[in-house]
Amino acid sequence: MNVKKWLLEKLMQIEFMKNELDVRKRESLTREKKTVESFDWQWRYLAEDGPDKKGAVLLWAPGWREKVDSMIQDELGLTKENLVGKKVLDVGCGQGRWTYGFKKIDCDVLGIDTSPAGIEYARRWGLNTRVLNLFEIANADLAGKFDFVWCWGVIHHTADPKRAFQAIVEAAKPEGFIHCYVYSHPRSRRIKMMRAFLKPFSFPTRRWIIRFWVRVGFYHGSVHEAFDALSPDINKEIPEEEIRNWCKELGLRYERRYPAWARSSKDIFFNAWRDSGPNHKV
Ligand SMILES: C[S@@+](CC[C@H](N)C(=O)[O-])C[C@H]1O[C@@H](n2cnc3c(N)ncnc32)[C@H](O)[C@@H]1O
Repeated sequence: MNVKKWLLEKLMQIEFMKNELDVRKRESLTREKKTVESFDWQWRYLAEDGPDKKGAVLLWAPGWREKVDSMIQDELGLTKENLVGKKVLDVGCGQGRWTYGFKKIDCDVLGIDTSPAGIEYARRWGLNTRVLNLFEIANADLAGKFDFVWCWGVIHHTADPKRAFQAIVEAAKPEGFIHCYVYSHPRSRRIKMMRAFLKPFSFPTRRWIIRFWVRVGFYHGSVHEAFDALSPDINKEIPEEEIRNWCKELGLRYERRYPAWARSSKDIFFNAWRDSGPNHKV
């Protein structure tokens, strides 16, 4: 009798845990969907935002197109000779501002992103891009195909950054390497409050509120920059130690980078090397 009761209790506990897991999975899927929608809206309506100096970090800006190839070399710590002709995957390419840079260096580059608006925009610039979720890299037959994988400002916007990192590592050839930029330092309480405040509003209303904040100096930067920083639902901050552990588990050597153009950034730029590869460095 007691055993029957015990078994029943255990079964109920298992059922409860299963439901709990289902709820969490559904919640994280919803948050991912909202994040992807926010970026898609951003690339559709704010891709050419800021006809001022502040908007000069986007592909439309001649200043960006002029310097992006040297920025890439500086960020990777490699010369143009190291990069020419390499097969590159630009994961989460957005509207293709880095993809453009790799094309300029004469790499064989493919950009992927979940945002149809971003991909559409990149294609207008003649860039080789396609709509693809990074978690589908292996299913899309892209595993093991690239000399290196560039993933700038993306994995902290996914529900599972560690799994996202594993997925992009899979895209590299056995001797290939990976480069990422990841949010790491904790954002201020003010930024967190601004994000929470915007959450209930539609994207056009968020833009309107952000425009106001920018105009009154409550946010320093362009409307596009502010939308990018405040609107996506998922914005994680990943400690450096955690990133080191991901690399260790995958047998990669971690090399933190400090690009000259982002000296003041407290976030993480890093290369992840396979010691066996011809690209072996450091
Ligand atoms: C902050 S933006 C950076 C875009 C680009 N790397 C750049 O620097 O201009 C993040 C990008 O990641 C994309 N993204 C988010 N989750 C993704 C996923 N699971 N697979 C592919 N792209 C994703 C978004 O659509 C967005 O374009």
